[in-house]
Amino acid sequence: MIRISMCFRIVASILFVVICFGVSFCYGAEAGKLYVLGMGPSDPDLTAPRAILILEKADILLCSSRMQEKFRKYIDPQKVAFNPWEGIHGEEAAKLRKSDYDKWLQRVEKRKKKIFDFVMDAIGQKKTVVMLDGGDPCVYGPSLYWLLKGFDHQYLEVIPGIGAFNAASAALKRPMTGKNTRFVMLTSPDSLFGKYYEKDDGILKSLSRYETTMVFYMALSSTDKLVERFSKYYPSDLPLAIVYYAGYSEKEKVLRSRLGSILDDLKKIDEKWMGLLIIGNAVK
Ligand SMILES: C[S@@+](CC[C@H](N)C(=O)[O-])C[C@H]1O[C@@H](n2cnc3c(N)ncnc32)[C@H](O)[C@@H]1O
Repeated sequence: MIRISMCFRIVASILFVVICFGVSFCYGAEAGKLYVLGMGPSDPDLTAPRAILILEKADILLCSSRMQEKFRKYIDPQKVAFNPWEGIHGEEAAKLRKSDYDKWLQRVEKRKKKIFDFVMDAIGQKKTVVMLDGGDPCVYGPSLYWLLKGFDHQYLEVIPGIGAFNAASAALKRPMTGKNTRFVMLTSPDSLFGKYYEKDDGILKSLSRYETTMVFYMALSSTDKLVERFSKYYPSDLPLAIVYYAGYSEKEKVLRSRLGSILDDLKKIDEKWMGLLIIGNAVK
């Protein structure tokens, strides 16, 4: 009896040591990784705790000065390596993108390479690198789309964020899916009609047969063209809403309108970027 219990104790102790060693090995020797963090639509109070935790623990941060300022409470400035968007975003870059798209694309490729080399080197040193993205990184998020296209998934983790769509729907206090709504479509004028509205609008004709909630990102600078296209297939009382600065406690603003009157309503508003356009009966 005594022998069995002795034997049991020895085996249990060995097992315990092995498990402890295994666990500490897994955590201690954790490989480096790149995290793309969805930082939410507005201020840190709408950012997922998981993203904040990873941000605080990360070794190296890649973010714009705007993001750094917004999340300053959680960011050690010493950890910020550089702004991955330098030369790609901002006033000068936007002008270049308009005047010479190919040249702008070359800049993106250069940047992509710089980031790839930098991140892989850090990962080789078992560091965690984070890139901060607004809203949700998988919905028109520029990091995954432009800079990390083709990045090896084994070194990458994406943390979801509340997107502009979630915050805007909440501001409208309406369900975006519903009894008669067949589907919700997330898109942008570029995606649906082409960069210069060069694609034909047959797709809109087809869509007009179904009750749909249509969500347009990056649409405020071309609402006139959008309205022109919609007016061919939809009645002038088609409901539209624009939610500006969705999720910002001080700045959020909702504009409800109709297809026939939206352009007049917009004459009083200057904002051309921070607004989500939602079209369909759901926003009535
Ligand atoms: C490059 S996309 C980024 C979208 C982001 N990844 C997301 O999930 O919300 C930028 C566009 O998203 C929309 N957007 C982003 N944040 C917003 C906010 N807080 N309120 C309204 N629209 C917003 C605007 O249409 C803006 O032009």
